[in-house]
Amino acid sequence: MKNIIVLGSTGSIGTSTLDVVARLGAPYRILALSANRNTELFLKQVHQFKPRFAAVLDPASYEILKPQMPKGTQLLPPEMESLTFLASLPSAHLVVNGLVGAVGFQPLVAAIKAGKTIALANKEPMVMAGQTVMQECQRWNATIIPVDSEPSAIFQCMEGTDAHSYHRTHESISRVFLTASGGPFARRKNALSTVTPAEALNHPRWKMGKKITIDSATLMNKGFEAIEIMNLFHLPQEKVQIVIHPQSLIHSAVEYVDGAILAEMSEPDMRIPIQYAVTYPKRMPSPVQPLNLFQAQKLEFFEPDFERFPCLELALAAQAKGGIFPAVLSAADEVAVEAFLKEQIKFTDIPKLIYSVLKQTLSRPGRVTLHQAAEADAWGREQARVHLAEKKYKKVVL
Ligand SMILES: NC(=O)c1ccc[n+]([C@@H]2O[C@H](COP(=O)([O-])OP(=O)(O)OC[C@H]3O[C@@H](n4cnc5c(N)ncnc54)[C@H](OP(=O)(O)O)[C@@H]3O)[C@@H](O)[C@H]2O)c1
Repeated sequence: MKNIIVLGSTGSIGTSTLDVVARLGAPYRILALSANRNTELFLKQVHQFKPRFAAVLDPASYEILKPQMPKGTQLLPPEMESLTFLASLPSAHLVVNGLVGAVGFQPLVAAIKAGKTIALANKEPMVMAGQTVMQECQRWNATIIPVDSEPSAIFQCMEGTDAHSYHRTHESISRVFLTASGGPFARRKNALSTVTPAEALNHPRWKMGKKITIDSATLMNKGFEAIEIMNLFHLPQEKVQIVIHPQSLIHSAVEYVDGAILAEMSEPDMRIPIQYAVTYPKRMPSPVQPLNLFQAQKLEFFEPDFERFPCLELALAAQAKGGIFPAVLSAADEVAVEAFLKEQIKFTDIPKLIYSVLKQTLSRPGRVTLHQAAEADAWGREQARVHLAEKKYKKVVL
């Protein structure tokens, strides 16, 4: 039996994970589920998968669900401790972290300290304190298997090579090509200042949650992924080459020192990397149609446009500065994306708001501790709200 915890089960990653687990059947079994506000879907999932434990963080959702929980499922109180409890359950074999934003940080840390294997989609904690997270994995004998399609592709392209262990320096690797679809505005000629939330939520290739879809439109998502893979695979920034690849068929590639490039290709469907993380190191049949190379016709590759998409440069600059900068970047981005979705700021104000907070961030020497990263997240969030209220965001100077 392989007992699986799914945190964020009602989200895009969560529902795809449950689809994968339902199709795989025994020995894969759902031990616990967590969500926030989508009580209707959550209740359906609880009835279908009959988990031993369930949790929602939203107190109003807890009150709705409490009288409806089936016998055999214990609904935990609506508090962060319930998520950390689930992430460290002794009988759990795999923790799937499909939470969005910094809310996934504490559950990730709890899973690591319990020595778990973690299928990680929630990239923000890896942005906030990725190097320290990897160090803690070593200390507690925990393993992270990336779920995000690009880090998963890189993980797969490193398999069977001397670079596969996270803890080695990758002398055999000369470059990693981190691919990006470019989002909905890669080829847009009009100014980006008039972009509406509805337009930005219309991603050409992937159907995802709102936060990551907006991050994909600003290219902040690619910046986050660049930070994530540097931390996951101990790669220096100069070995990471971001490539706009509109067809989204190559999910990333690794170039070795002998000139060989290994790429991972498939139809863009998250169930492939999710399933690989669930069944790793085994490969199992999946419901996704294999890629038809004859229909694919062309594969295009472009350099990213840093000027039109300043979030990318902001992310790389924050990572280069190190310390608390990436945690502040991630926190300010969460506030900025929320403000854009509520139509409080323009699309082009997102990088300006983030920059205004980063500009006043003081650097601290050395690697951040987990505690400092959580503090920096809270500080960055608060500052972003103040800058938003006082309209302190004017421009980005890079
Ligand atoms: N979607 C993708 O294809 C994809 C691909 C690669 C990486 N990722 C990464 O995976 C993570 C999840 O993305 P997603 O697209 O699946 O997001 P999503 O669709 O918005 O789902 C987020 C999940 O987290 C729950 N949640 C949200 N806020 C919460 C809170 N404050 N407390 C507790 N639970 C909360 C939601 O619950 P309710 O729905 O019940 O409110 C939902 O179950 C993100 O970090 C994203 O960057 C996603």
